[in-house]
Amino acid sequence: MIKKCLFPVAGYGTRFLPATKSMPKEMLPIVNKPLVQYGVEEALDAGLYEIGFVTGRGKRAINDHFDTNYELEKEIAGSGKEELLTGIRDVINRGTFSTTRQREMAGLGNAILTGQTLIGDEPFGVVLADDLCFGEGPGVLSQMVELYKQFRCTIVAIQEVPSDQIEKFGVIAGEQIREDVFRVTDMVEKPKAEDAPSNLAIIGRYILTPDIFDIIRDTPAGKNGEVQITDALLTQAKRGAVMAYKFKGRRYDCGSIQGFIDATNYCYENIYQG
Ligand code: G1P
Repeated sequence: MIKKCLFPVAGYGTRFLPATKSMPKEMLPIVNKPLVQYGVEEALDAGLYEIGFVTGRGKRAINDHFDTNYELEKEIAGSGKEELLTGIRDVINRGTFSTTRQREMAGLGNAILTGQTLIGDEPFGVVLADDLCFGEGPGVLSQMVELYKQFRCTIVAIQEVPSDQIEKFGVIAGEQIREDVFRVTDMVEKPKAEDAPSNLAIIGRYILTPDIFDIIRDTPAGKNGEVQITDALLTQAKRGAVMAYKFKGRRYDCGSIQGFIDATNYCYENIYQG
């Protein structure tokens, strides 16, 4: 079954400057927990215990977060504050955490290809931590793993979005085979509203079969001069099956200030246990 999950976390987070000048954007807290930890917990809950980060310069804090801080442990041992570390200790104990570095920002496709060294030749999950997802019942990746058991092919998460938002996303067209599942027939990265093949936008959760690596290697740079995973997925869809899954739950775009604030409010009211 699927046990590995890649987190491409090399991006600069320019929209959050100056906060992200010397701190990874993935470490910004939603209430009291770094954004990336929500994604890692979602992966662990789905049984994906081998976590791989594709990082870049200035991202060491992410590796430190998923490792023991002896000084801190010693300092607060036996004090009333110790329980504040229970959650992250549990996360660290449940997974393994590996890192590889992307030397240049060359697109999400390139980031995923860089992660091949951590994945090898097996199906794997991809989480874009900026997309903070809360499943209705099981998490979004858990829902997708269930679907993978049935279809044994690449699966992308999708959501309906209004037409004035569509150009921020990869967009699919597909043949509906179930109320919430489409067999992908077309995919376009960040189309203008008038060129979009549907209102079904790709959200940052993927289960990919490992043939995607060779496909990415053969995929030329696309939108913005970057190697886009969406373009590689279209090739894969034409060769075989790629499914798109309308997940059950909510999603916040924490790469934008508004989404970040909305996610913070939602977590504070519904999830945070202070
Ligand atoms: C990436 C993908 C895009 C997808 C989006 C989901 O874009 O390229 O296809 O719809 O994530 O958040 P980004 O937001 O990283 O520019």
